[in-house]
Amino acid sequence: MFSFHSIVLGILAAICSLQRGVSAGTDITCGGQFPKAGGGLAQRTDGCSSWSDNPSQVRDSWGSANFRGVCDEHNRCYYTLRANVDECNRNFCDGLRNACRKAYCRKIFTATVCEPLTYGSCLQIAETYCAAVRLVEKDVYAKAQDLQERYETCIAENGGVTTEAAQGFLLQTGTPLHETDDTFSFAIGDWNLDGRPDLFAVKKSNTGSKSTEVHILSGALNFQRFILQTGTPLHETDDTFSFAVGDWNHDGRPDLFAVKKSNTGSKSTEVHILSGASNFQRFILQTGTPLHETDDTFSFAVGDWNQDGLPDLFAIKKSNTGSKSTEVHILSGASNFQRFILQTGTPLHETDDTFSFAIGDRNQDGRPDLFAVKKNSTGSKSTEAHILSGASNFQRFILQTGTSLHETDDTFSFAVGDWNLDGRPDLFAIKKSNTGTKSTEVHVISP
Ligand SMILES: *[C@@H]1O[C@H](CO)[C@@H](O)[C@H](O)[C@H]1NC(C)=O
Repeated sequence: MFSFHSIVLGILAAICSLQRGVSAGTDITCGGQFPKAGGGLAQRTDGCSSWSDNPSQVRDSWGSANFRGVCDEHNRCYYTLRANVDECNRNFCDGLRNACRKAYCRKIFTATVCEPLTYGSCLQIAETYCAAVRLVEKDVYAKAQDLQERYETCIAENGGVTTEAAQGFLLQTGTPLHETDDTFSFAIGDWNLDGRPDLFAVKKSNTGSKSTEVHILSGALNFQRFILQTGTPLHETDDTFSFAVGDWNHDGRPDLFAVKKSNTGSKSTEVHILSGASNFQRFILQTGTPLHETDDTFSFAVGDWNQDGLPDLFAIKKSNTGSKSTEVHILSGASNFQRFILQTGTPLHETDDTFSFAIGDRNQDGRPDLFAVKKNSTGSKSTEAHILSGASNFQRFILQTGTSLHETDDTFSFAVGDWNLDGRPDLFAIKKSNTGTKSTEVHVISP
């Protein structure tokens, strides 16, 4: 049995080595400045032994009790900006005691019976760890917070991996999201209300949770860190679903719109909305619409067309249209998507798979404009942006231009959002696979 003091000394040694000693990996190190970073933390978690240069003094397990998870969680807590240190330590101490109970106690009918000797010494160890951590909490917590603060600032300033974006790009970066395929859908919205657009990756199927999942990467951290990863009450989804984000219930948080295009109960295109406030755990609208069931010739987006503060649903009909042009059909949010407030042809010919659509106020007149992104087979041999103005009811192009982005294909997904906070929407090209970084990449252009 180690004395209280030898363990405290071990932990103190660890505190001095707070910024040394843990192995580096493939995680974002911000140009090597934070070699021990991992999992979004300036120092990756490494059980209890990461506290000490002498792992035999501060071990992950004692007998059958395993403290590793509790130690990892404690580290994570200290490295979470503005975490409450008392709460970190209370959870830590409770967690250690629980680990002892789990290892040495069992329930017999209604009574809990513990092995007196082993449980007793385990608790002693737990109390020793606990006291030692509390003894030095001020200093260690402050150091961890400072390091994390500098880490996050470094990433925000430098983009983590890519040092400099190529000419014509506002950002080009890999992310902690692996390469992705057709089971992923992407959207842009400010999830954490910090004024920066975040990236929503909706995983539709083959998920761990057996539901449609939402994974959000923080814009403020140049998409280097997940700020939400969750299953939802929406079952796994397929090609008949289209996703978008918008603030449906006016609470300032982006909600998730799942548009079910076909095989619906109502025999119409349906709108299902999961609330952001519930972390996408609660439906706040599920409804059929006057729009018949739809197929691949339709593309969907969300934006406030009639400026009543409620998101409206844009259905873009790309081909097989009456007008022989790409058409815009808008269902009003105020009517719970029961009424069309615009149905019109446009000067854009019928479009196919090489076109991707999004909504954003390009000319800053308060009306949403329609972005038609032509991915390939373009005159300019680059990915092109063709923007139809909302003010003209989509009858007039306000921009038709090539971009710095080469021609693109199915491995790219497009969205718009104001990345550089100049008030104009930028174009996000999300490269899902065949990437240099072997991760899903974000490339931002200001067309
Ligand atoms: C053009 O884009 C379409 C749709 O993404 C894709 O299926 C096709 O392979 C692309 N063609 C080329 C030459 O990249």
